[in-house]
Amino acid sequence: MAGIVRIGVSLGKALLSAFDGLCRKRGYTNRSEAIRDLIRNELVRTEWTEDNRTTVGALCIVYEHDRREISKRLTHVQHEHRSLVISTLHVHLDEHNCLEVLILRGKAKNLRAFSDGLISTKGVKHGDLVMATTGAALE
Ligand code: NI
Ligand code: NI
Repeated sequence: MAGIVRIGVSLGKALLSAFDGLCRKRGYTNRSEAIRDLIRNELVRTEWTEDNRTTVGALCIVYEHDRREISKRLTHVQHEHRSLVISTLHVHLDEHNCLEVLILRGKAKNLRAFSDGLISTKGVKHGDLVMATTGAALE
């Protein structure tokens, strides 16, 4: 990290003690790293509110592969949006259930719409989009 600047932050005792408790629970060895992570999280959240920003995310879905051609449908949708899908990981969880993790890159609004489409597909039991970042705007 080039050009580190030290800043002073004023906090109430109760808030600071709660924050220190949180830091311990999460395994931070110093407050500075915890504060940096909090700031970065907010910046990533903001990145996702700006629809036209290019960002990355990971979509996790669980479905029963032998239910009404769902595998076919999910693969078809992914091919249609192949410019958004960087990589996929498929795990056969048991006889019926599959887990798929899709790494996505594109405009925030497109990633959200694509993910919503897959998650709401009939037969998808669970789905969640983890909003990440290209990191370009973060130090
Ligand atoms: Ni394919
Ligand atoms: Ni499978």
